[in-house]
Amino acid sequence: MSRGRPRAFVTRLLPEPAPSLLGEVFELCGNLGDRPLTSREILEGVPGASAIVCTLADRIDAAVLSAAGAELRVVSNFAVGFDNIDVTAATKRGVLVATTPDVLTEATAELTWALILAAARRVVEGDALVRSGRFTGWSPSLLLGKELTGGVLGIVGMGRIGRAVARRAAGFGMRVLYTRRSGPLPAEAVPGGEQWGFAANLHALLASADVVSLHVPLGPETRHLISAPELAAMKWDAILVNAARGPVVDEAALAETLRQGHLFAAALDVYENEPVITPGLEGLTNVVLLPHVGSATVATRRKMAESAARNAIAAVRGLPGVNAVNLQVPCVPPCARVDQWRV
Ligand code: GLV
Repeated sequence: MSRGRPRAFVTRLLPEPAPSLLGEVFELCGNLGDRPLTSREILEGVPGASAIVCTLADRIDAAVLSAAGAELRVVSNFAVGFDNIDVTAATKRGVLVATTPDVLTEATAELTWALILAAARRVVEGDALVRSGRFTGWSPSLLLGKELTGGVLGIVGMGRIGRAVARRAAGFGMRVLYTRRSGPLPAEAVPGGEQWGFAANLHALLASADVVSLHVPLGPETRHLISAPELAAMKWDAILVNAARGPVVDEAALAETLRQGHLFAAALDVYENEPVITPGLEGLTNVVLLPHVGSATVATRRKMAESAARNAIAAVRGLPGVNAVNLQVPCVPPCARVDQWRV
C-alpha cells in the first residue's frame, strides 16, 4: 500500500481546473500531452494508482483494472458515456466508475441542433461550393434543403440530452415524438405547454419522424439499434442524426441506404470505428461528418474537467458526491466511508 499521497494516473492532458485540483490531492502520473496513450502504455502506467482519470478514447478493461492493482478506488471518466470502461469488472473489484453528467447536456444539445440544421439546409455543401469558387450567384434552385417547421422530431432515448434537444424543438416549430426505455416521461418532466408524444416502439417513431436523433447510451441492447430494417422504416426524405455513440448505427447499412437514395441526409458526430470512417460515407455529399465534438465548448470542457477531478478526489477520500454509475460497489478497505456513496 502506498505511504505517501495516492497516485492518480491521468491518460491525457485535461483542461483546468482538473490538473490543479488533482494535483492538490494526488501524485500525478501518466500523460501530460494531447496524444492518446496506447493500450500498452496504459497497462504499464496504472500499477499502484488509486485513481485512473481517463477519456472516452481510452479502453479501461479488466486487464487494465487488474494491472492497476488493489489500491485502485475509482475510474473517473472525462465523459458522460462510459462504454469504454468494463463496469462489471470494476464493480467486481470494488472500483467506482464515475462520469460527468449534466454539465455537458446543453452543449451536446446545441451541437445536435447544429447537425440537424446543417443536414437540413445543406450548410456544408454550401460552404464547400463558395470556397471552391464555383458560386456564380443566387439561383432559384441552388441547394434546396428540407424545411423543419411543421415536421416531427423523433428522439430515440429521452434522457438528459434527449430532453434538452426536445426543448429546443419548439423554437423550430417541430413536434416531438420520442421513445424511452422506461416508458413515457412523467408529466412533471415535460415543460409546461409542450406535448411531447411517446411512440409505442422504435419503428412507430421511425415511420413518422422527419428527423431522427439518437440519444441512447451504447450497450449490448443498443449496438446497431439502427440497421438496414430501421433505415428502411424511415421516411424516404428523413434525416438521421447521431451524436450519441457510433456503434448505435450500422454505418455500412447507412452508407448503402443513402447511396440508394433513401433518406434526405445523415449527420454524424460519432463513428462506429472511431476515428476510422466507414468506407462509403465520406464520398456522399448528403452526410455531415463532425469529429466527435458534442461537448466541445470551452465552458463545458472546463466543467467536465472539474467534475472528473472532484469525482476522483471524493472517491479516494470516501466522500459523497461521486457521480458513480456503479453505486453498488462493495466497501473495500481502506475506503471505510463507502456507505456515504449510497446517497
Ligand atoms: C461524449 O461523447 C461523452 O460521453 O461525454
